[in-house]
Amino acid sequence: MAIGFINGEWIPVDQAVLPIDERGHNFGDGVYEVIRVYQGTPFKMREHLVRLEKSAEAILLTMNYSIDELEALIAEGLAKTGLQEASVYLQVTRGIAKRVHLFPDVPASTTMTIRPATDLPATVREKGVQVTLVEDERWKNCYIKSLNLLPNVVAKQKATDAGFYEAVFVRDGIVLEGSSCNVFLIKDGVLITPPANRFILHGITRATLLEIAKEIGVPMEEKEFGPDELLAADEAFLSSTSMEVLPIVEIDGKQIGAGIPGTISRDLHKNYRAKYQGIGV
Ligand SMILES: Cc1ncc(COP(=O)(O)O)c(C=O)c1O
Repeated sequence: MAIGFINGEWIPVDQAVLPIDERGHNFGDGVYEVIRVYQGTPFKMREHLVRLEKSAEAILLTMNYSIDELEALIAEGLAKTGLQEASVYLQVTRGIAKRVHLFPDVPASTTMTIRPATDLPATVREKGVQVTLVEDERWKNCYIKSLNLLPNVVAKQKATDAGFYEAVFVRDGIVLEGSSCNVFLIKDGVLITPPANRFILHGITRATLLEIAKEIGVPMEEKEFGPDELLAADEAFLSSTSMEVLPIVEIDGKQIGAGIPGTISRDLHKNYRAKYQGIGV
């Protein structure tokens, strides 16, 4: 069963509750997080909530729940749903107030949904995905997990309509990230991903994979690369809380490596799974 939460109250997810003057939908004036729950235990919850707080601080927003309180609320919600495999979406907005641009003198507003996790079909994982490179039209603060996802959703829709799985943003000749994921390539055994600067979201999965690379002895580098370098990669993959590690086999019709998920990508994913398998036990 799924459940919703709004400022202290647990509600059915389909209950219409958001006030008309909620700044989240008037301005996209807020931040959010997505946390995957495996075997009843939220994975990397603290890291996600710390990033949420950092995103809030970056937009000068004071959250109305502390990280500890949010952890307790997530545990409470999970217990109510009884879900073992779930996705938690948390949104914190600048509250509910008459529509003017200036910040209102009201508390932030927190909503959450906990729903059964929807895993990618096994065939997608096994085959890998085709992606397209698109110009990054987003703002310059993509490290903030902002509710403003307009360029992301438009890019994703256009990519899907054109038969691709994901759109990967390129800014000034530099490959950055997907519309909802980070990007990695592997060349001559070295794992390479763009640096965690203001132009990408500092993915929790990305950080976990870099940690894993260190643990299992895969040399890695955080450095900028352009489309040519990506196209010449031996392997490439997308990473996110929901995708985990998703191999890229084709970019704008050009085959990557052998055109099948690569061995280092598979190995990283196997080790990623090992990190969450058994966490609830
Ligand atoms: C733009 C963008 N980049 C990267 C990611 C991956 O972040 P994480 O691994 O923390 O899920 C996401 C996830 O939603 C995203 O929206």
